[in-house]
Amino acid sequence: MRIYECADYQGMSRRAANIISAQVIQKPDCVLGLATGSTPIGTYKQLVEWYNKGDLSFAEVHSVNLDEYRGLPGTHDQSYRYFMQTNLFDHVDIKVENTNVPNGMAEDPAAECQRYEQVMADLGGIDLQLLGMGHNGHIGFNEPCDDFPLITHLVDLTASTIDANKRFFASEADVPRQALTMGIGSIMKAKKILVVVSGADKADIVRRAFCGPITPQVPASILQLHPDVTLVGDSAALAEIKKEGVKVCG
Ligand code: F6R
Repeated sequence: MRIYECADYQGMSRRAANIISAQVIQKPDCVLGLATGSTPIGTYKQLVEWYNKGDLSFAEVHSVNLDEYRGLPGTHDQSYRYFMQTNLFDHVDIKVENTNVPNGMAEDPAAECQRYEQVMADLGGIDLQLLGMGHNGHIGFNEPCDDFPLITHLVDLTASTIDANKRFFASEADVPRQALTMGIGSIMKAKKILVVVSGADKADIVRRAFCGPITPQVPASILQLHPDVTLVGDSAALAEIKKEGVKVCG
């Protein structure tokens, strides 16, 4: 695993965008696995800036997003489809038909999960998967549990995730209680993984995920078994992991 320490959120965003750009430049028809949440917003902003400068094109890129709330249509301003459109897709030359987000409105969620797995398989797998990490170590909506879920599935959100996400909704009652998410197995199949973390409030879970035991109680800890993981964080988020003596690049 490579760890890059950046001074602040902006530096983290720029470094992560650099890594994604390198992927797109080296393989213009690559498959990007994308994430939502507050952490990657700056990364997407930076990619849009470089696209506007003419340094980058997404014309041949395909994308697959990690997850979507169940019950929210893509037009809802808290849906992850809407997030991706407004933070990235609407501002670059990616073809909308080449972008994939689980359909939160699917009548049969099990069939939708199966379809989504097939989409990833038909694309030949994910070249680079971008991940944020929840305070409880969740990746995608894979919450702490007794077994690592393998494939895309419907999940009940935990109280801590509902609590963390209520800031985006009018009230806690409006936060959807379920989501469709790639499984840990789907994520681990990605050829490369890029994890972005920012802020002192992530420092403890970063240490537990990357230096603690591998356990489904800390879903991100499985990433210790992936052969090509890059962690990009600001100094605050990396404060605890650095105390464990891991090698960090500037
Ligand atoms: C988003 C996602 C989540 C977030 C995580 C961290 O698609 O899958 O796992 O990455 O909740 O969110 P932020 O970045 O808001 O701290």
